[in-house]
Amino acid sequence: MRFSPRGSGNVPGMTQRREDETSSDQPLRESEVPADPIDLFGRWCDEAVQRNTTAWLDPTAMTLATVDAAGRPAARVVLLKGFDACGLVFFTNYESDKGVQLALHPYAALVVYWPHVRRQVRVSGPVMRISRAESVQYFDSRPRGSRVSAIVSPQSRVVADRKVLEAAAHAHDQEEHATVCPDHWGGFRTQPETFEFWQSRASRLHDRLRYVRDGEAGWCLQRLAP
Ligand SMILES: Cc1cc2nc3c(=O)[nH]c(=O)nc-3n(C[C@H](O)[C@H](O)[C@H](O)COP(=O)(O)O)c2cc1C
Repeated sequence: MRFSPRGSGNVPGMTQRREDETSSDQPLRESEVPADPIDLFGRWCDEAVQRNTTAWLDPTAMTLATVDAAGRPAARVVLLKGFDACGLVFFTNYESDKGVQLALHPYAALVVYWPHVRRQVRVSGPVMRISRAESVQYFDSRPRGSRVSAIVSPQSRVVADRKVLEAAAHAHDQEEHATVCPDHWGGFRTQPETFEFWQSRASRLHDRLRYVRDGEAGWCLQRLAP
């Protein structure tokens, strides 16, 4: 079967690509990866940023998947704003659909895809709000326009039209102390339970290494079939 999103024809240029153009020459070996996946993630992030020669690709963009009250999956892109041994952090409106879903089912799957280095990273684990102090610190670092938009936008709600949002932003911008971080806005941290590193290899015999959290002690490393 050929890739054909509209049921007929092919996406120009997509199916014609040679396989060796889509594979990486760098093997991913169990013996060479660090014991802690966050170290490998950091290394891959650095390489994704350094090897990004385009203005359009944001290496911090990642897909966040949650489940709603009915158990249905929901996915959208958010920006990775930080990571450390405690987890991966993104910021959002706590009253948005994703915020409500995470309050109900505090568990998420994240996917980062870096096409230019032919790599994908998948993370899953429990999600918790970061501290108010951390959220305020990040909020205050954002440009004023972004802060105002975050304050006035009832994210995920239906609005009458764009003018309503623009008028609300304009009105708020006139107010004194207009850019205080609202209580309903802040960060979430995903604490990885699994961390999978995928790297394209020749003939689609790709590398997949998955770290699974092994109690408090550390991580168990598994190779998965591509
Ligand atoms: C490149 C990109 C980056 C985005 N970054 C964020 C983000 O960091 N936080 C956020 O709340 N929404 C972000 N969005 C918007 C979300 O994809 C989504 O539309 C919004 O959060 C509402 O999702 P929800 O209704 O499922 O809660 C981003 C969208 C794109 C395309």
